Amino acid sequence: MRAQRLEDRVVMVIGAGSIGPGWGNGKAAAVQAAREGAKVIAVDINGDAARETVQIIHDEGREASPFEGDATDSDTVQAMMEHAIATYGRLDVVHHNIGIVALGGPVELEEKDWHRVLDINLTSAFLVCKHALPLMEHQGSGVILVTGSIAGIRYTGVPYVSYSTTKAAVAQLCQSVALQYADRGIRANCILPGLMDTPMIYQGLKEGYSATDQREMVEKRNTQCPTGTMGDAWDVANAMVFLASDEARYITGQNLVVDGGITCKMA
Ligand SMILES: NC(=O)c1ccc[n+]([C@@H]2O[C@H](COP(=O)([O-])OP(=O)(O)OC[C@H]3O[C@@H](n4cnc5c(N)ncnc54)[C@H](O)[C@@H]3O)[C@@H](O)[C@H]2O)c1
Repeated sequence: MRAQRLEDRVVMVIGAGSIGPGWGNGKAAAVQAAREGAKVIAVDINGDAARETVQIIHDEGREASPFEGDATDSDTVQAMMEHAIATYGRLDVVHHNIGIVALGGPVELEEKDWHRVLDINLTSAFLVCKHALPLMEHQGSGVILVTGSIAGIRYTGVPYVSYSTTKAAVAQLCQSVALQYADRGIRANCILPGLMDTPMIYQGLKEGYSATDQREMVEKRNTQCPTGTMGDAWDVANAMVFLASDEARYITGQNLVVDGGITCKMA
């Protein structure tokens, strides 16, 4: 029988809930990691969302612990790491998954929204690295994963300058960490989803298609994809499990694009 790919690993997913009903990337990643044998810390600013994910994992007979907290706050991020050590004794993988969208280019976007997106999408990822890396260095191993976006490498047709900028930045954050820590057993990689059918798009991106209803938005997104359909949260979760596992032991500093090929036609 095949060994489970994350057997006995402690995996923290930050943004492990889902913003609406159904499967978000973080929720699917947490559940998939548990299915592969990991002990999961499900972190979310929304405690109910974190507990829902943990309940799903427990219902499948797997191990998980919730943590309610805001990843933009340094002390809270430190407390997450302490929770992992206190609960499971180590921390093998941290997957930073939170990200929000604010529509608009530099002229339209309010300065307060620029700062809000930077805080949530980028500063939190920096804080996660800041507090996780010393633990991982002490262990002599660890994996940092960040959910970026193809919006960090391509213009996707919607002007959201703060989102694109932060998604480009987290990819570079991973690369920088990867190189600094490559000889200490620590890897860092960024996952770049394309157009995915997750609860988030019905919240944050709905406005971008203001002349259409929800069904038309989905059709428009499906049509843009070379395969004819968007990906889903499990596509991101499977990429996360791969990068977290030893199968990816020689992969670091990379962007793994999970987009059904859409960036190939956006060149
Ligand atoms: N769906 C897509 O088409 C798509 C495409 C590319 C990239 N992404 C990326 O995927 C990620 C989102 O995935 P998802 O489907 O899990 O989204 P989601 O919004 O459903 O879930 C994210 C979770 O993060 C939590 N969260 C938000 N701010 C937080 C904070 N400050 N501290 C702790 N938790 C916080 C939310 O409460 C929510 O439960 C984002 O990084 C997004 O940019 C999505």
